[in-house]
Amino acid sequence: MSFDVEKIRKDFPALSQTLESGRKLVYFDNAATAQKPRSVIDAVCAFYSRDNANIHRSAHELAGRATRGYELSRAKIEKFFGAGGEYCAVFTRGATESLNLAACSWGLQNLKSGDEILVTAMEHHANIVPWQMAAERTGAKLVVAGMLGDGSLDMEDFKNKLSPKTKIVSVAHASNVLGTVNDIAAIGEMARQNGSVFSVDAAQSAPHMLDDISSAPCDFISLSGHKCFGPTGIGVLIARRSLLDSMPPYQGGGDMIENVSWRRTTFRPAPERFEAGTPNIAGAIGFGAAVDYMSGIDKTAARAHERALLERLVAGLSEIRGLRIFGSAKEKVAVASFAIDGVHPNDIASLLDADGIAVRTGHHCAEPLLTSLDEFSLTRASLAFYNTEEEVDFFIKSLDRAVKILK
Ligand code: ALA
Repeated sequence: MSFDVEKIRKDFPALSQTLESGRKLVYFDNAATAQKPRSVIDAVCAFYSRDNANIHRSAHELAGRATRGYELSRAKIEKFFGAGGEYCAVFTRGATESLNLAACSWGLQNLKSGDEILVTAMEHHANIVPWQMAAERTGAKLVVAGMLGDGSLDMEDFKNKLSPKTKIVSVAHASNVLGTVNDIAAIGEMARQNGSVFSVDAAQSAPHMLDDISSAPCDFISLSGHKCFGPTGIGVLIARRSLLDSMPPYQGGGDMIENVSWRRTTFRPAPERFEAGTPNIAGAIGFGAAVDYMSGIDKTAARAHERALLERLVAGLSEIRGLRIFGSAKEKVAVASFAIDGVHPNDIASLLDADGIAVRTGHHCAEPLLTSLDEFSLTRASLAFYNTEEEVDFFIKSLDRAVKILK
């Protein structure tokens, strides 16, 4: 398989549009959500056009098709993310719900006063707030491992903070702000040797198809479909089946029970015990189509392409006077967040938007990280394998012009 970016771009209808400004879209907001290939759009459309029915319930043909489509997608997702054998995927609304599921179900059952939850200084709110809520309810404490100046994890600090009190280690595989890729194989091994449960927030790494998600000794892996070129409102929590079966359901309702009486309810095994009510069936089928699409891409070539784009982007940004980039770790996904002295990020984003360029500004749902960087808002360009060198060059030119206007 070779990597032909122009051919790949044709698979994504949104990428070829002309905006109201008359400009061609340059989509550099992929860490917020990725664009969708035609095959994903078609899969969702086909479900609603032909197969729409509820799953696991009725005996009619449509119900059979819907159930098969939903379960086939689960199997594809498990296979793609290396979750075979002892692991299984629970469908959730996204990585945020996956982390909430782990924190509410495993956390409330297993944490107690004096226990510690170890996270890192670069976490997204989705990997902070659920654990803070679990800590408040159980008396456990949230402990934060620091970063080095380049935005990589301070492994010495991490080791020092890992202790017999650490019941769970929960880290981002890739930072949505700095792009830093954490060595989850090494961190997971330390957690395992320490007897701690290991949770990985893979929301930002999965779309870049880093192949070590499944090779690390993870107990929980949280993912969002929409960042992996699938629909919004769908994600998975991948976990060991035995661990999931030891955890209580965190929502009750239909489809997750074995028997219900007025006296008591018994629950189905994982994954169903965590999928109460009618799930996002079309979303699950669309996520399955997205992993089919990702399976057809040459991972090595896509990563090399993204790396080259990131280098080009960083080189261009470095030429802009007064611009500071945050995060220069050796292992990074194609994300560049920056501040420009004396210029408000929202003004930058507005001028870029006038040129058709989509970026995100703000605290990026990582307020503690921004506070530690002494920044209130950053501009972020986040790339995917369908972005091009020409787009990067146009972005740098447009940014340079914006800075000259605003200064
Ligand atoms: N977590 C997403 C981002 O980083 C929304 O933009």
